[in-house]
Amino acid sequence: MVAINLDKLELLYEGKAKEVYKTGSSAAYIVHYKDDATAFNGEKHDIIFGKGVLNNKISSFFFELLKNEGVPTHFIRREDDRNQLVLTLDILPLEVIVRNIAAGSMAKRFGIEEGTSLKHPILEFCYKNDALGDPFANESQITAFGWATQEQLDGIKAIAMKVNSILTTFLATKNITLVDFKLEFGLHDGALLLGDEISPDTCRFWDSKTGEKLDKDRFRRDLGNIEDAYKEMLFRLTGEKA
Ligand code: TMP
Ligand code: ASP
Repeated sequence: MVAINLDKLELLYEGKAKEVYKTGSSAAYIVHYKDDATAFNGEKHDIIFGKGVLNNKISSFFFELLKNEGVPTHFIRREDDRNQLVLTLDILPLEVIVRNIAAGSMAKRFGIEEGTSLKHPILEFCYKNDALGDPFANESQITAFGWATQEQLDGIKAIAMKVNSILTTFLATKNITLVDFKLEFGLHDGALLLGDEISPDTCRFWDSKTGEKLDKDRFRRDLGNIEDAYKEMLFRLTGEKA
């Protein structure tokens, strides 16, 4: 694999954990995965050496899996250790959270013990806006403010549920419980596509037997061994020893 030379590309956007670059094609971007880890809306920040490589590989693996199952995504291919080629997207300003087990902010908000199983998956929407701390938004607010149409929301809900069932079923074969995760969507030539990443930064993964956390909660909660947890996820998914 020839590594991409980012110096030759125009930086379009820099996020907390990734950068997006323009390419020679108006239809494609390069997404570059950094080692930065943040939590609590950027209040907590650290560098976890090698995290970008692990997340790039893990997210590429999940997007390949979803593409093969017919989920419409922005993913074209992984270019090298830190870079992916993706279709350009106008990102909808929404964070779409799917939960199978009570954990994190939802367990706290409702006073429900973390680990409590749910009668059915829960879907939550947040308005993607760092300055406001990504506040909750319901469907009526989302369509009234023009962040997405009802048709787009219906598409998002259907894709989010399909992603949940594909990932839950697959991860169970690797002895991983998919507790919850966050998705983002965008439009490419008017078509609704799944974008962003799917990685231990954006999901909660628990070892099905021991309950060990194999995701960014190790960073958020100062549990240590963050890199080892991400390496373990890559190994369980692909057999690759990082
Ligand atoms: P939460 O319990 O903190 O609301 O998180 C729910 C899921 O969403 C969890 O898997 C982590 C993911 N997530 C992100 O990817 N980005 C974020 O900014 C937040 C708050 C959560
Ligand atoms: N990535 C988010 C931030 O930096 C939060 C999180 O994932 O917990 O705020």
